[in-house]
Amino acid sequence: MKLKLKNVFLAYFLVSIAGLLYALVQLGQPCDCLPPLRAAAEQLRQKDLRISQLQADLRRPPPAPAQPPEPEALPTIYVVTPTYARLVQKAELVRLSQTLSLVPRLHWLLVEDAESPTPLVSGLLAASGLLFTHLAVLTPKAQRLREGEPGWVRPRGVEQRNRALDWLRGGGGAVGGEKDPPPPGTRGVVYFADDDNTYSRELFEEMRWTRGVSVWPVGLVGGLRFEGPRVQDGRVVGFHTAWEPNRPFPLDMAGFAVALPLLLAKPNAQFDAAAPRGHLESSLLSHLVDPKDLEPRAANCTRVLVWHTRTEKPKMKQEEQLQRQGRGSDPAVEV
Ligand SMILES: *[C@@H]1O[C@H](CO)[C@@H](O)[C@H](O)[C@H]1NC(C)=O
Repeated sequence: MKLKLKNVFLAYFLVSIAGLLYALVQLGQPCDCLPPLRAAAEQLRQKDLRISQLQADLRRPPPAPAQPPEPEALPTIYVVTPTYARLVQKAELVRLSQTLSLVPRLHWLLVEDAESPTPLVSGLLAASGLLFTHLAVLTPKAQRLREGEPGWVRPRGVEQRNRALDWLRGGGGAVGGEKDPPPPGTRGVVYFADDDNTYSRELFEEMRWTRGVSVWPVGLVGGLRFEGPRVQDGRVVGFHTAWEPNRPFPLDMAGFAVALPLLLAKPNAQFDAAAPRGHLESSLLSHLVDPKDLEPRAANCTRVLVWHTRTEKPKMKQEEQLQRQGRGSDPAVEV
């Protein structure tokens, strides 16, 4: 019995040693768990690579965004505005100047119908923040509206618009603001913007790249919802107007713009104060362009971006009554 126990013990010992040896041998052996480990390591390597790529991307300066051209590269828009003293003058000029403030690269040529600059207009221009040239020229007596004459009998603002053309051509004589005319070779466009119309800021971008004479419709004019060129296949083929359609250019003053180089190349082109009613625009344009070469803008003349609004003349009945009693509104307050 004793011997048997000893044998069992021996067998147990041997089996244990064999197990231990087997385990020791197995430790040094490659095992079939390696391929998945390799795949995991490869994945990690790929991720590291991607991270360092992304880090490099982050360090790189961002690409320049698609930006509008630098303002210096834009042609200048010369806006010519004749103006005359009246009760609503300041209101009209404030409204217009604040519209013009929304337009980059714009130069306002404000021409007073006056012998010399008035403090109201000088002050308004100085406060406007706009690049401007202040001009003044009195309309000759023979051309002035007589008391009681309706406004359409004589064209208004002729002398003033011609004064602005003269300044652009180097005529000098500015009474305020920028005194030097555009240097030779200046890229620009000239637009005649009366102080009573309403202008969309979009209109100015439509005219900026005018090559010769560009045109578009004008709203609320000529007794119509709008007047303007008729366009076919991108060319002007006629005009939508009810009144004297046979005028060479049945266009409103607010309905066209002229490239500055073209105006400078035609030194005789100006407005004719003696032009018959409705022919003032034609008197300038017939020096400059053939109607078929007009450049339609504002989506082939299908969008109205300027309106011929008229400000009502304010009634001053109470003011006059108070003035007779010596109690009128303080004249020191500018209106
Ligand atoms: C104007 O019309 C022409 C010819 O039909 C067309 O090619 C062009 O795209 C139009 N322009 C605009 C701004 O609609």
